[in-house]
Amino acid sequence: MLRDCSYVTGLSTCFYDRAGELGELERGLRWAHTIVLYGPRSSGKSELVRYYVSRRLGSDVIAVVFDARRKRGTKFFESLGVEVVHLDESVALRALDAILKILEGLRVHMPLDLRTLTHGARELYKVLLSVVSSLSEVYVVVDEAHLLEERGAFIRDLEAVAGALAKYRELSNIRLLVTSSEGFISTTDIYSRLRGYSEKFIAVEELDEEHFKMLYEEYCLKRGGCITPLNIIEAIAGRLPGYIAEVEWRARSGELESFIKVELEKLLGAMVEASLAEGVGLEQLARKLVMAFEGSIRYYEVGLRALEVLIERNIVYERGLTVKPQLALYARALKLAVEKGVTLYSLAERGFDVGELLEL
Ligand SMILES: Nc1ncnc2c1ncn2[C@@H]1O[C@H](COP(=O)(O)OP(=O)(O)OP(=O)(O)O)[C@@H](O)[C@H]1O
Ligand SMILES: [Mg+2]
Repeated sequence: MLRDCSYVTGLSTCFYDRAGELGELERGLRWAHTIVLYGPRSSGKSELVRYYVSRRLGSDVIAVVFDARRKRGTKFFESLGVEVVHLDESVALRALDAILKILEGLRVHMPLDLRTLTHGARELYKVLLSVVSSLSEVYVVVDEAHLLEERGAFIRDLEAVAGALAKYRELSNIRLLVTSSEGFISTTDIYSRLRGYSEKFIAVEELDEEHFKMLYEEYCLKRGGCITPLNIIEAIAGRLPGYIAEVEWRARSGELESFIKVELEKLLGAMVEASLAEGVGLEQLARKLVMAFEGSIRYYEVGLRALEVLIERNIVYERGLTVKPQLALYARALKLAVEKGVTLYSLAERGFDVGELLEL
C-alpha cells in the first residue's frame, strides 16, 4: 500500500497509490530518455510526474516544469487586461530554452519552432549550460502537452528533441517527461513519430479501489465531511481522483443533477455525430460500445470513424486494443439504453437523479 503524507497534492491530501506507475517510471528511466504519460482527464498524470520528480530532486538533480495550461491561461487573462505573475514560469522557460539551446549548439537537425516551447531571456543560458552538464539528472517536464497551440510544431519539436536525447551522450543526463491527454496520443501521430527514440509511454488511469477510498476519506475529513457518498462519485466518474473535488463541489452547490444532465447531453451529441460519421444507427453504435467497454469486442470493431469522433469529444479513450469510457457515467447510460431500451434522447432530455444513477 502506498500513501505518502510527506507530499501534499493539489487536493491538499497525501499522495496515494501508483506503485505500479512509479515502478514503471523508475525502470523506464534507466533507459528511456523521453517518457509520455497519458490517460483520461483528471486521472492524476501531472500529480504523478510532480510527485516522482520531487522525490528525485537533490543537489545534483534539477527539474524544470513547462506548464502549457498555465501558459494558455495566462494568455487568456492577459487578453482580458489582467496581469498574471508566476514566480516560477520565467525560470522554467529559460531553463527549457537553455536545454534546447544546447541541442541547437550540437547542430542536431531540428525543425525547431522555438516559439512553441520557449521564448524569453537569454542570460541564464550560460549558467545553465555549464550547470546542466555538471548535474547527474535533469528532468524537463512538459505538462499538458495537448494544450500547446501548434500541435504539429510541438510534435516535430518533440520528435527532434527525443531523437537528440536518445543519440547524444552529452545529453544523457536529461530526461524529458511529457504529460498529455489520451485523446492527443490517439488522434495524432506522436506514437509513431517517437518510436525508436528511447521513448516510453505510460498509461495513468484510475486509482485502485482501496486507495481511492482512502483518498476520498482524507479529502472529506479535511473538509468537515462530504455530502456526496463515495459510490455516487464512482458511479459518475469511476476512480479518477480529480473528480472527488469536482463532484463534491457540484453537489454542495446543488448542481450535481444538472452536471449529470449536461454530461448526458454531451454524450448524446457525440453519439449522434459518431453514428453519422460511421453510417450506423445510434442504437447499434451504443450496443457496440457497451460490448467494447466489456472487452467482448476490440476497439476497431466499434468503427474507426465513430471512434475518432468519440475520442475527439472526450467520450472514450483507447487503451491497447480496448476502448474505455472517459466517465463511468457514459458507460452506465449506454448500458441502460441498450439493456432497457431507453433512448439516449430521452435520457438526455430528462437526466436522472442520483438515486437512479446507482441502479444503472
Ligand atoms: N495519486 C494521487 N493521490 C492523491 N491525489 C491525487 C493523486 N493523483 C491526482 N490527485 C489529485 O487529483 C486531481 C487531478 O490530478 P491531475 O491534475 O494530476 O490530473 P491530470 O491527469 O493531470 O488531469 P488533466 O487531464 O486535467 O491534465 C488533482 O487535484 C490531484 O491533486
Ligand atoms: Mg494534468
